[in-house]
Amino acid sequence: MGVYGSDRGEGAGEFLADRQAEIEAAARALAAGGLVLLPTETVYGLGADASNPTAVAAIFEAKGRPRFNPLIAHVADVETAARIAVLDDRAMTLAKAFWPGPLTIVAPIREAAAVCDLARAGLDTVAIRVPGHPLSRAVLAAFGGPVVAPSANRSGRPSPTTFADAFGETGDKAAVALDGGPCEVGLESTVVAVLDGPPRLLRPGAVTRAQLEAVVGPLAEAENDARRSPGRLALHYAPDAPVRIDAAAPEAGEAFLAFGPWPDGERVFNLSPTGDLAEAAANLFSFLRAADRTKPVGIAVATIPGEGLGEAINDRLRRAAGYVG
Ligand code: TXA
Ligand code: MG
Repeated sequence: MGVYGSDRGEGAGEFLADRQAEIEAAARALAAGGLVLLPTETVYGLGADASNPTAVAAIFEAKGRPRFNPLIAHVADVETAARIAVLDDRAMTLAKAFWPGPLTIVAPIREAAAVCDLARAGLDTVAIRVPGHPLSRAVLAAFGGPVVAPSANRSGRPSPTTFADAFGETGDKAAVALDGGPCEVGLESTVVAVLDGPPRLLRPGAVTRAQLEAVVGPLAEAENDARRSPGRLALHYAPDAPVRIDAAAPEAGEAFLAFGPWPDGERVFNLSPTGDLAEAAANLFSFLRAADRTKPVGIAVATIPGEGLGEAINDRLRRAAGYVG
């Protein structure tokens, strides 16, 4: 693993010139499917190539007791963001006002392959931001594509805001760990959804509601909206077909998500023929969607072991099956 020091000179230009080798090492590690401990101005992130579901599964695995929450795609500039997401006039106004910086915009996905289904938890929307830290932006520019990165803490622990804290959480899982010094903001980015209707604040953060409203007008009243359209804030893809878990075999008309050796069949989608949980995690949301597209009477899912990533897979499946809200 590459661990790099924080002796970073004076100006940003000098800072980047000094650190070109580690920026390139980080970009190479991302391209190879590895994880990178990435400083941002808000908190440290644990990043992976957003288009690579196996790399994204490794993020969830590294965090321990994982939940498959949708992740933020980090990009180098507004142009890249607009290629990946549908940024309407309001989103562009917000982007121009606050990027690079601690604002995440949730918008419809445009280029679905750039941010894989697992990274979006199967949603048709994507959370995207241009971070303000020069080191992470340099890595994003060198890599070229979007990098998804949740906060680098292990599950249930506070977000790390220093290199030492971040390294202590998940540094052992990173192919490259970049020391960007202490995070200037120290609080996660503000998340605002720019979809139908007025922009909606999903997570308060460094950019305040007042700052947002000064630029884009009144935000949606979260409470009222939730009552008017229940379920709109649900953060996971829900299949149309009912889901039946712990199934030994599909019944007539059902699609089947298999796990381990299973004969091919018309509506059979094998999450991992070899019984590999990381592979199953990487395939989960895409295969739920693919199964749903066959318009089955239901989607039966084989028993998935509960250890490691199996915990998150089972959590997601129990929700899809309606056992958990
Ligand atoms: O400051 C930050 O935002 C840090 C740094 C590393 O960028 N990242 C971060 O990521 O806090 P994470 O994974 O801990 O939080 C992502 C937030 C969650 O609240 C998630 O629900 C929301 O973004 N989110 C992601 N995709 C979404 C989507 N499509 N729709 C709604 N919310 C989404
Ligand atoms: Mg977090």
